Amino acid sequence: MNYFDLASLTSRSSVFDPAVADWDAVARHPLPAPALRALRYMQDIESHTVFYLRELLSTHAVDDPELAGFLATWFYEETAHGRVLARFLAAAGHPVAPRPRRAPRTLGERIEALGIAVIGAAWRDFPVVHMTWGAINELTTLTGYRRLAQCAGHPILSQLLAHIMRDESRHFGFYFEQAARRLAASRRARRITRTLVERFWDPVGSGVQPDTETRFLAGYLFSGDDGRAAARAVDRTIRRLPGFEDMPLLEAWVDRYCPAPGPDGGRSALRVERSAFPAAPTQFAH
Ligand SMILES: [Fe+2]
Ligand SMILES: [Fe+2]
Repeated sequence: MNYFDLASLTSRSSVFDPAVADWDAVARHPLPAPALRALRYMQDIESHTVFYLRELLSTHAVDDPELAGFLATWFYEETAHGRVLARFLAAAGHPVAPRPRRAPRTLGERIEALGIAVIGAAWRDFPVVHMTWGAINELTTLTGYRRLAQCAGHPILSQLLAHIMRDESRHFGFYFEQAARRLAASRRARRITRTLVERFWDPVGSGVQPDTETRFLAGYLFSGDDGRAAARAVDRTIRRLPGFEDMPLLEAWVDRYCPAPGPDGGRSALRVERSAFPAAPTQFAH
């Protein structure tokens, strides 16, 4: 597929049609408690896309017609993912509570946003950071949904996730190709982007959901033999980006924050403190 064929990319947008799902059957199949917890996290992050979009639109990304065209479709589809997952949760007997009003930004968050705005205004190539971040997060999300379908074993959920994964796959393709092209064109872009990802990247949802939830999700989806294999596959793909050939990423993050479950079933892993690590500056796209 030519991922730069934007007309093709956007014309194939077809969000999940709720009419094709057997919603009454949802509650007839068991939904494991960890899968429910993971779904709540993912639904919240999907519905948070508008805030990522706000960050993107504050950069030079808006000056690029290709990016602007993609973002319209991307936002539409991500928002639809949040809606369909919310409907599934409601059908399973766990309706999503209305999102509480966002707390005012902390001083640190305001400084961070200002820093991004200043760098974004001064450096015209700044979208390369967003494109790289987006590629990592889309691939992590896509892989996470695949793992969730495997772990949950719920037929209706698998049907929904299969459709969502097709969208995430297209999103990943666009971001990855954009990132690869922009990184290949500039040594400076490679150096800065690599440094930022290495220092600040956390799985999508960090900073939006509590750290305990992010670590739970990563441990649930990317631990064990199958989970580790999935994390390694994400890392292998991202290492195809120029400048990222030896980048430690998802598997290293899981190693660091999600120790193998012990006799307490892994609950101790959720208590690992991460004070030694910097907070992510922003989560960009997913
Ligand atoms: Fe999504
Ligand atoms: Fe996506």
